[in-house]
Amino acid sequence: MDKIRAMITGIQGYVPEYRLTNKELETLVETNDEWITSRTGIKERRILKGENQGTSVLGAEAVKGLLEKTNTDPLDVDLIICATVTPDMPFPATANIIADKVGAKNSYSFDISAACSGFLYALQMGSQFIQTGSHKKVIVIGADKMSSIIDYKDRTTCILFGDGAGAVMLEPTTEELGVMDAILKSDGSGAPYLHMKAGGSRKPATHQTVEAREHFAYQEGSTVFKFAVTNMADVSAEVMERNNLSGDDVAWLVPHQANKRIIDATANRMGVGPEKVMMNIENYGNTTAGTIPLCLWDYESQLKKGDNLILAAFGGGFTWGSVYLKWGYDPK
Ligand SMILES: CC(C)(COP(=O)(O)OP(=O)(O)OC[C@H]1O[C@@H](n2cnc3c(N)ncnc32)[C@H](O)[C@@H]1OP(=O)(O)O)[C@@H](O)C(=O)NCCC(=O)NCCS
Repeated sequence: MDKIRAMITGIQGYVPEYRLTNKELETLVETNDEWITSRTGIKERRILKGENQGTSVLGAEAVKGLLEKTNTDPLDVDLIICATVTPDMPFPATANIIADKVGAKNSYSFDISAACSGFLYALQMGSQFIQTGSHKKVIVIGADKMSSIIDYKDRTTCILFGDGAGAVMLEPTTEELGVMDAILKSDGSGAPYLHMKAGGSRKPATHQTVEAREHFAYQEGSTVFKFAVTNMADVSAEVMERNNLSGDDVAWLVPHQANKRIIDATANRMGVGPEKVMMNIENYGNTTAGTIPLCLWDYESQLKKGDNLILAAFGGGFTWGSVYLKWGYDPK
């Protein structure tokens, strides 16, 4: 019997309208456009404004567009997986809320927490559900409203993050296309360097935790930077070697968008030229689980059937990984 693989049959992103520029950040913290641009490559990020607007708003907009684009009846969707570290609330899962918003009444749904590697974890998991033959239409979402956990008084983090979401449709194929291989890793000893101190079961919210600004993302930037470069490049090289791929065989590297310098260093170590590296960090900053699907969405018109893509991510946890994907369709 032919091997079943999971192929991406559609991609859609969503970013909110409001643009938080480097110029505006200059009015909030002691920083400047030149420093941010040269150290990170970021010019602006999108911010979801308004009362009661959570990550599900971003995810649902992406999924609505995806259903329309792929001509899919929401009732035909089997499963929705949402990768996020900024769920609307601790429970229910944001994926449940998104499924309800888009009318996916026959789908079950759940969230995955793997920070910036979340989309790759969810993609691999969704792919396994397709490969077993038990599921026919799986939607994988990467969505984060990072502005809800960012301290706009902390210049080392507030310049980096933005809000956004992307969603893909996974369907079975027996062609040599789709998710070909994946290596995913995690190491919880990295937690001290990138985490949110309060608001979980260990340290529930109190007046003190709010006063101490412990409900915001905390990061030791330079430590995370070093781990990100080494691990993203190593795991991508491992996937490439395992599949006999050289830099020349790779059509696109799709790296998590955390810092342009991390992306450049990773591509360099992998022997992939800058013309083959997807990059949109300038426009959106780091949208955590959103970056990789937002990149695929922005570059969709340049992707051709059979293109070899190496997806790579690193994030809080630490979590990291790389997915080898053969793109499934020509520009429509
Ligand atoms: C955060 C990050 C951009 C900082 O860049 P860096 O080159 O490591 O800078 P450093 O933290 O060493 O700080 C250098 C100097 O710039 C200052 N600085 C920090 N943020 C600044 C800002 N927004 N504007 C101006 N100066 C700033 C620091 O205070 C420091 O000053 P000092 O030398 O007087 O102490 C970088 O470390 C990074 O991108 N880290 C990884 C981020 C990441 O990948 N996170 C998510 C994982 S998915």
